[in-house]
Amino acid sequence: MTKPRVFVSRIIPDEGLRPVTEACEAEVWQDELPPPRDVLLGSVEGCDGVLTLLTDRVDDAFLDRAGPQLKVVSNFAVGFDNIDVAACTKRGIPVGNTPGVLTETTADLAWALLMAAARRLPEADHYVRAGKWRTWGPMLLMGPDVHGATLGIIGFGRIGQAVARRARGFGMRVLYHDPHRVSPAVEAEYRAEYRTLEGILPESDFVSLHVNLSPQTKGLINAERLGWMKRTAILVNTSRGPVVDSMALVDALRDGVIAGAGLDVTDPEPLPVDHPLVGLDNCLVVPHIASASRATRSKMAEMAAANLLAGVRGQRLPTPVNPEVYG
Ligand code: DGY
Repeated sequence: MTKPRVFVSRIIPDEGLRPVTEACEAEVWQDELPPPRDVLLGSVEGCDGVLTLLTDRVDDAFLDRAGPQLKVVSNFAVGFDNIDVAACTKRGIPVGNTPGVLTETTADLAWALLMAAARRLPEADHYVRAGKWRTWGPMLLMGPDVHGATLGIIGFGRIGQAVARRARGFGMRVLYHDPHRVSPAVEAEYRAEYRTLEGILPESDFVSLHVNLSPQTKGLINAERLGWMKRTAILVNTSRGPVVDSMALVDALRDGVIAGAGLDVTDPEPLPVDHPLVGLDNCLVVPHIASASRATRSKMAEMAAANLLAGVRGQRLPTPVNPEVYG
C-alpha cells in the first residue's frame, strides 16, 4: 500500500516527527530557517497532508499549488493566523492546531516577562556584566511592586485565565476584558472583574495581552489606547505582534507614556536588531518563545502529528479549527 505523501516544514520534536516519518512518505525541511515561499510551494505540490508552522503562509496560492488531493493542514501552534482558514474550509480541507497543551507554559512566560520588566532584570543583568556594580545603591534600578498591583488581562480565554491564576498568588487585583464576558461563576473563580477596554487600560498597573490576531485585534493597542494607560504601567504581549502598533509603542516607551514593555511577539517578526524597540532599555524582547518548554513542544509535536495522520487517513482531526468541514 502506498504511503501518504506529506511535507513537514521544519524539524519538530521526535514525539511528532517519528510517527509521521514512519507512517508517511515524508519530506522534512531540514533548515533552521523556514523554506522560502517558492520552495514551500514546490514542496507541497502533490502532498496529501502538510504540517506547517506559524512562519508558513497557507492561502489560496498554497492550496492551488498543493493540489486537490490535499486532505489536511496541521499547524504546529495554537494560533492559526498564518492560515486562510476560510479558503481551506471552502475546499473541504480540515485545519488542525494544538490547543490546551501550551496554555500553562505560555502563561509562565507572560509571567516571567511581567516580573522581569517590572524588576528590570535585563537592565540589572547588563549592569553587572558591564562592571558597573560598585556598591549597594539605595536608588539603584528601582521598579514597581508586582504583588498587590492591578493586572489587566485582555483576552480571557485559556491563557488569559492561566495568567489570572498566577496573579492570585501575588495578591493582585485582576481585571479582564474580552468580547465575550465570562459567566459570574468563572469571574468568581478567578476573582476577576470585567471592564471595557476604556475601563481596563487606565486602571491597570500591568496589561497582559492574550487575544488571537484577527482584523478586529490588529492594532488593538495603538497610540490612543497606550495614552489611556498609566504612565507607570507595563505592557506584556505574548499573543501576536500586530496586536500592538509597534511604532506607537516605541513612542510611548520613549516619551514616558507608559513605563515599560515585555514582548514575546513583535511586528515585524523577527525584530531587526536595529529596530527602535531593541534600543530601548525599558523594553524587554524575547524571540517568540512562550511555548518553548521541552515538554510543551513535545506535546505540540504529538498533537500536530495526530492531526496530520488523522487527516491523511480521512479521519476526523482530534483538534480541528474548522469543524464545519465535517458537515
Ligand atoms: C502558538 O502556538 O500560537 C504560539 O505562538 C507558538 O507556540
